[in-house]
Amino acid sequence: MKKVGFIGWRGMVGSVLMGRMLEENDFAHIAEPVFFSTSNAGGKAPNIGREVAPLGDAFDIDALGELDAIVSCQGGDYTKKVYPQLREKGWDGYWIDAASSLRMDDDALIVLDPVNRGVIDRGIDAGVKNYIGGNCTVSLMLMGLGGLFREGLVEWVSAQTYQAASGSGAKHMRELISQMGAIRDGVASELADPASAILDIDRKVADTMRSTAFPTAEFGAPLAGSLLPWIDTQVESGQSREEWKAQVEANKILGTDSPVPVDGTCVRIGSMRCHSQAFTVKLKKDVPMGDIEQLIGGANDWVNVVPNEREATLEQLTPTAVTGKLDIPVGRLRKLNMGPEYLNAFTVGDQLLWGAAEPLRRVLLILLG
Ligand code: HSE
Repeated sequence: MKKVGFIGWRGMVGSVLMGRMLEENDFAHIAEPVFFSTSNAGGKAPNIGREVAPLGDAFDIDALGELDAIVSCQGGDYTKKVYPQLREKGWDGYWIDAASSLRMDDDALIVLDPVNRGVIDRGIDAGVKNYIGGNCTVSLMLMGLGGLFREGLVEWVSAQTYQAASGSGAKHMRELISQMGAIRDGVASELADPASAILDIDRKVADTMRSTAFPTAEFGAPLAGSLLPWIDTQVESGQSREEWKAQVEANKILGTDSPVPVDGTCVRIGSMRCHSQAFTVKLKKDVPMGDIEQLIGGANDWVNVVPNEREATLEQLTPTAVTGKLDIPVGRLRKLNMGPEYLNAFTVGDQLLWGAAEPLRRVLLILLG
């Protein structure tokens, strides 16, 4: 494969992707990387340590049509506009995308190679051209629990999520910090006075969060000091779209014949870029805890089991511990009171890494051979 185009490389997911590709020296495998822009064609391409052409126009279908593969982190609207035009013109290159627009199409695969390398390899052999990154919570769940799925031990999973601001976008991360600052600023003098009454502080904080001056333009509601138990739009089942994705995407990634039910409540919380999830797993049989730990911890190079102890959990199983890392810790592993087939688990993962950029750079390398 000679020419690979990159679109949306300057945004948040795109920047993480570029950073990872540079760290891993991925560009050495690409004969001609070409960078595109939706707004700055002719501008300077990013520094990747070698000469590359100035930025191309991301809407120039003829220029895109010369590429062997396109990696887009530009978002769903761009995909919906440009992708069909390219295929209509007969382009048969590889389309690699972070956006969800094409995910559930029959001619697309959802990529997460540590979990579904077999599905990807069969897709390549069958001539599949579209390789799409999964929803972040789904990818992070499968990176964590993949060992149990691989052994066919999972009857169903209920996932309660604790999703970071970054899942909504860069502006939302800024708004979360602004909200935190506004809360603190509103009670600065009371905080400085150890004798001030906590219930007065609490009342003032609530007033600040409910005031029209509180910054909520992005989230539409206060998140800092609170939480938002709805992510994305509503679908007919009463689920949020984020909740709906869990079952359909997980089963598509795994390539299951009969779908494993996955459902739960998706919640936005005030962490920056790590999604956490609490799982109830109904196993098909009573599996000893030692075997469960081995299956989970041995499933891929990034997952690790955190002992179900307070100190280890607070040290290793938090967004603060995991942010910026590829590690997928899984902990709080124990059988629930409901019976020996009911497993409790908790995982944390960086939603910009395994939840977005990492599967894309890895499938590109696979396609490059
Ligand atoms: N939809 C996810 C979220 C992010 O809102 O957190 C990306 O999959």
